[in-house]
Amino acid sequence: MLIDTHCHLTDERLAGETENIIASLEADGLESVITVGYDEPSSREGAQLAARFADVYCTVGMHPHDASAATQDVYDEFVSLANGNPKVVAIGEIGLDYYYDLSPRETQKKVFAEQLELARFLKLPVCLHVRDAYEDCRRILADNADKLTYGVLLHCYSGSAEMVPVFGKFDAYFAFGGAITFKNARRNLEALLAVPRDRLLLETDCPYMTPVPYRGQTNFPKYVNLVADKAAEVLGLQRAEVEDITTENAKRLFNRLK
Ligand code: NI
Repeated sequence: MLIDTHCHLTDERLAGETENIIASLEADGLESVITVGYDEPSSREGAQLAARFADVYCTVGMHPHDASAATQDVYDEFVSLANGNPKVVAIGEIGLDYYYDLSPRETQKKVFAEQLELARFLKLPVCLHVRDAYEDCRRILADNADKLTYGVLLHCYSGSAEMVPVFGKFDAYFAFGGAITFKNARRNLEALLAVPRDRLLLETDCPYMTPVPYRGQTNFPKYVNLVADKAAEVLGLQRAEVEDITTENAKRLFNRLK
C-alpha cells in the first residue's frame, strides 16, 4: 500500500469531504497519509485530525509564505502540539519560496533556520518547501548541518538532477507528486531518475498539484496512485516495487509512522 507523504486535509477546498477521504483510504490503496501544516491554524487542525484517525499523521510548521507571521508564541504552540505526540511526524512545511516572495527573503531565511532548530529540539525530521531558492536552501542547510540529525525531505522536488547529489550530502529524501505526470515534466523526470531508490517518496500535495488526467480539478490523496504509476513507468520498475520502496522509505524517514 502507498503512503501520501504530503497532503493538506485541513484545506478549505476539502471541507466537508475530509471524513469520506479518510474512510476510503484503505479501499484506495493507501495505508496512511500525512497532513502537512503551513501555519498555526493548519498545524493545530492537522494535529486534531491525526488524534481522531489512526491512518492520519501530521506535521507542524510555518510555510515560507507565512514566515512574516512567525512568532515565539507560534513556535511554543508547535512545541506543545508535537512534544510527546506520536502522530506529529515532522516539522514542516518550512523553507524558502522566491517564486511568490510572499514574505521578505531575509525573514524567510531567519524563520527557516529557527524551525530547523525547533526540529532538532523535538528530534523530528524536516519537510522542506523550496521554490526557485535551491542554492540558498543548500547554504542554510550547510550552516545548520548539526540540526539535521533526524532527516531532511525536499517535498515536491523541483530542483535539477544536478542538485540531487548536492542535497544527498545532507542525506536528503526527495518527494515527487502530480508534476511528474505533466506534459512539460522533462526536468522533473530527469531529477526523479537521479534520486537514489532508497531516498524516493511519493505525495499528492492535495488539493493542489492534481495529476493528469484530472489536472485543473481538486486533488485527493487517492491520486497518489497516478503518481506511483508514472514513477513506475519512468523508473522501469514494477508498480508493486515502487509501492514497496516508497512506503519503506517513508517509514524510515518518518519513523513515527506505523
Ligand atoms: Ni504543501
